Amino acid sequence: MTSSENNSYGALAGVYDHIMWTVPHSAWLSRIERDLRDRRKRPRSVFDIACGTGLGTEILFSRGYSPVYGADLSPEMISVARNKANTAGSAITYFVQNAEVTSLPDGLTVDLVTCLFDALNYVTTLDGLYRVFTSVAQTLNVGGVFAFDLNAPYALRQGLFNQEDAIGNIRHVWKATWDEETRLCTVNMDFWRTHPDGSEDVFSEQHVQRAHTKDEVRDGLRSAGFHEILFWGNYADKAPNSKSDRWLVTAVLKEKPK
Ligand SMILES: C[S@@+](CC[C@H](N)C(=O)[O-])C[C@H]1O[C@@H](n2cnc3c(N)ncnc32)[C@H](O)[C@@H]1O
Repeated sequence: MTSSENNSYGALAGVYDHIMWTVPHSAWLSRIERDLRDRRKRPRSVFDIACGTGLGTEILFSRGYSPVYGADLSPEMISVARNKANTAGSAITYFVQNAEVTSLPDGLTVDLVTCLFDALNYVTTLDGLYRVFTSVAQTLNVGGVFAFDLNAPYALRQGLFNQEDAIGNIRHVWKATWDEETRLCTVNMDFWRTHPDGSEDVFSEQHVQRAHTKDEVRDGLRSAGFHEILFWGNYADKAPNSKSDRWLVTAVLKEKPK
């Protein structure tokens, strides 16, 4: 199942930036850039897949990467990203695309592919995840880097998504259920938005995330042609432990997949 097969990131697109304003994209990208420096890589071109409303993509653009591409499965998220780029005059090319068939126009390739904020957990089959890795490999230059993060199985199992909060005029209640057999976490999300005149609208989405294991990720990356695969716990400088919520994974493309 991909996020297009449930109703995720439709109505949510309109309030996503408002709700996610505390998410540390800038610090995450700085951590990725440190990894790149340690690897003596100086990427210029970047493709941010599953980029959502472009929160990370805009930072990459502001840091001088060029050209910058962003793609996402949700037309609503891409529409928000495009509007922001148009308003800011940022030369970012955004388009709608399933990460399982990642590619750039005219077969272009880039030095760096990023995928932030657990977007790949939304690819809920192992075959799907491996299609992402293979198509990302086709889109990268040999020697290029793929950097992405994932919600760790620990986080999904522990109910990371059980949340209730009010941010400005938007209140949300999220309830998660975890299936140990499928390793799927299903989250029913309800949102209430209060308008200045006191009226309220309500919308709901269902999100499904899969807890990919480290072995699955490592094996899939290797068979797609990656090597020098590193896992970091919560964007810190240490390998993840059993209680890390999030893994940052970075890998270098050694050779194009056959
Ligand atoms: C939590 S958001 C992260 C968005 C963005 N990367 C960020 O850092 O804000 C997850 C995003 O993954 C996208 N997504 C889910 N499945 C996808 C797929 N198969 N291909 C491309 N995008 C996908 C969703 O539409 C959503 O925008």
